[in-house]
Amino acid sequence: MNQRPAILIARAVFPEVVARLREHFEVETNEQDAPFTPAQLIERLQGKVGVMTTGSERIDAALLAACPQLRVAANIAVGYNNFDVPAMTAAGVLATNTPDVLTETTADFGFALLMATARRICESEHFLRAGQWNRWALDMFAGAEVHGSTLGILGMGRIGQAIARRGAHGFGMNVIYHNRSRLDTGSEAACRARYVSKAELLQQADHLVLVVPYSAESHHTIGAAELAQMKPTATLVNIARGGIVDDAALAVALREKRIAAAGLDVFEGEPKVHPDLLTVPNVVLTPHIASATLPTRLAMANLAADNLIAYLGTGQALTPLNPSVQAGQGR
Ligand code: DGY
Repeated sequence: MNQRPAILIARAVFPEVVARLREHFEVETNEQDAPFTPAQLIERLQGKVGVMTTGSERIDAALLAACPQLRVAANIAVGYNNFDVPAMTAAGVLATNTPDVLTETTADFGFALLMATARRICESEHFLRAGQWNRWALDMFAGAEVHGSTLGILGMGRIGQAIARRGAHGFGMNVIYHNRSRLDTGSEAACRARYVSKAELLQQADHLVLVVPYSAESHHTIGAAELAQMKPTATLVNIARGGIVDDAALAVALREKRIAAAGLDVFEGEPKVHPDLLTVPNVVLTPHIASATLPTRLAMANLAADNLIAYLGTGQALTPLNPSVQAGQGR
């Protein structure tokens, strides 16, 4: 009997997904769920043709050179800044991600974080838990209006559009957006969103939600200069990636009340968080959980598994990032 292909699941995933993969492959898992160092990952990948990754595993030229049998890396995430896709394409290694299955869940969370930030939910809960609530006051934790306000969205892909629909149709918000390319008129109408320049977006938004992918070009898209253009009453929400916001500059802007508040699900250098963000009261901090519902995380893991099964079985993945590799350029 032919030896079955060997794969590595780099982080702990749901048992039912591991069981599905075991029907097709020799599977090595990481039950401890401790992220591998780059050297450990290379060691574990010896003899493996496939790997299931999360954002904590980097697939770059050095790893590809050290793992000549690797043919496919399936990320359990829609974002893939942990992949050097050009290096993977050059090496003939297929990259896949998990679009669509997390869109609505992530948009729900973006909206939840916006609401918690604008309406000061966490700050007021801490106050109550600390036993500081001894009288009601008219202006106590008075926050920013959400309904009828101006929602700005930077990055109008699938998740940006899902947030726009919630704002426009659910909360009667005036939705403006900026994106590398403008949406077609049908998509703009569905989101009731108006395209503006980045400067207009910064200046006009009451609530600015960031949903742009991370790359060298989007590094510190929001820094001190951009924060200075925002309204002093504005809130900023980052559910995209750490590094899109200059966290040190944001902490200063929050402390000096140059903007009202921020809601952050992602951080530069996470899981570390800039210490100054931990001491300012007007920020809501969550540990990169925007897509974290059990059904969605299961759907993401299953899609990554489907990509491994399909590509290693038929040569055609479901959601390839570098499809030229499928057209005969692969290892
Ligand atoms: C994604 O899918 O990109 C989420 O941020 C989880 O990593």
